Amino acid sequence: MAAAPQAVYWLGNDTLRVSAALFAENRRRLCAGLKANDGLVPQSVVVLQGGEQKQRYCTDTDVVFRQESFFHWAFGVTEPDCYGAIDVECGKSLLFVPKLPESYATWMGEIFPREHFKAKYAVDEVHYTCDIADVLSRQSPAVLLTLRGLNTDSNSTTREASFEGISNFEVNNVLLHPIIVECRLAKTDMELEVLRYTNRVSSDAHKMVMKSVRPGQKEYEMESLFQHYCYNKGGMRHTSYTCICGTGNNSSVLHYGHAGAPNDKTIMDGDMCLFDMGGEYYCYSSDITCSFPANGKFSPDQRAIYEAVLKSSRTVMAAIRPGVKWTDMHRLADRVHLEELVKMGLLTGSVEDMMNVHLGSVFMPHGLGHLLGIDVHDVGGYPEGVERSDEPGLKSLRMGRLVQERMVLTVEPGIYFINHLLDQALANPAQSCFINNQVLARLRGFGGVRIEDNIAVTAEGMDLLTCVPRTVEEIEAFMADSAKPFSPAVSASQ
Ligand code: GLY
Ligand code: MN
Ligand code: MN
Repeated sequence: MAAAPQAVYWLGNDTLRVSAALFAENRRRLCAGLKANDGLVPQSVVVLQGGEQKQRYCTDTDVVFRQESFFHWAFGVTEPDCYGAIDVECGKSLLFVPKLPESYATWMGEIFPREHFKAKYAVDEVHYTCDIADVLSRQSPAVLLTLRGLNTDSNSTTREASFEGISNFEVNNVLLHPIIVECRLAKTDMELEVLRYTNRVSSDAHKMVMKSVRPGQKEYEMESLFQHYCYNKGGMRHTSYTCICGTGNNSSVLHYGHAGAPNDKTIMDGDMCLFDMGGEYYCYSSDITCSFPANGKFSPDQRAIYEAVLKSSRTVMAAIRPGVKWTDMHRLADRVHLEELVKMGLLTGSVEDMMNVHLGSVFMPHGLGHLLGIDVHDVGGYPEGVERSDEPGLKSLRMGRLVQERMVLTVEPGIYFINHLLDQALANPAQSCFINNQVLARLRGFGGVRIEDNIAVTAEGMDLLTCVPRTVEEIEAFMADSAKPFSPAVSASQ
């Protein structure tokens, strides 16, 4: 309904310009998806509630705000405490912003009129949130469609829109969620452009870290360098998740970097580094892992494990195309790992027999990869009717469906030496019979290797969005060239 919007999100310098047309297109697709559903009644209006500004516990210290993901997908609004509505039939978009008290002007800055937000976000109407019940009742909706559904990664349920007076409306909270999730799953060209940008900046940030790392430094110095690059060059105030900067044995801790293990070890000569970090721009994510030796030179064991993971990564990428089962891609990665671990002498016996006892999951307990978008673990991995496998390894796979064109996925195989999983395997005769104890003893304490790239699925196969040194030779040459300062491959805004 709205004319092509001219509104643009841009943080200056080389940062990406993102047109509000991206969100108009998302709303248009949502309405088309709803209209195609038999359960839609005429005069339905979607109502979404944006994220709220939160404070630290009981204090008055604000937590840096980041928009709620569904609301961002539909409206691209950066401010907290808003609502949005979409008339499904005609596509009219209504934004509701808080009416701010006068004191806001003293402490927080200018209070903008509603016209400001109408122009900023190219929506059809802007009203105050305190008027939402009156404004919506003037639309005479037969039903309000609110968002209630399960996030299959966190097992949390979305927070459904709620406001004073909503009990006077007919509300349907089941129709919207599966349809909007399906829309979020397939990325538009405009969304792909943003995801290419987040990958380009985050790849460059990883390269800068790789150039800077030296034994004797702290892991958190690498986290800090990454964050600085992403924000300074890319306008990324947020990362997509807590940075994982594991070195030495910490590189086998899958979600290292949390408050109990906050990237605080000193990096040692001979350590493997596993740095899993991704910047987020305008709420669009990236999720990249680089693994390399801290001293810039792979030992024979480091090379063998690294090349085993690289082989599984590239084998999977060569097989990806619309229609393949993601679970099959996970099994393919497991198979390549087992074959390579046999070549290394760590395992002996038939790979087929090893697959039957799920030996791959001892070395890769996580899933091969997941959907990526506004959330780092993006929604839609298990829609109704797609069951999660309970097999070791596969049960941690965040997507159980067929690969589809326009999905953006991570491909992140890894091999880790996690003591408690190794001990469990050794205590299980069905698995221990394949393991060479002497070789295993040498590899305990190695840590792990993960190679994580982000890809966009195309009609014929896939596009690789991540661009970092990947082969052993590329990494060693890149790190050896420390005299040459880091410079990004391309301008960030291209
Ligand atoms: N950074 C978490 C993951 O790779 O899924
Ligand atoms: Mn990751
Ligand atoms: Mn990931």
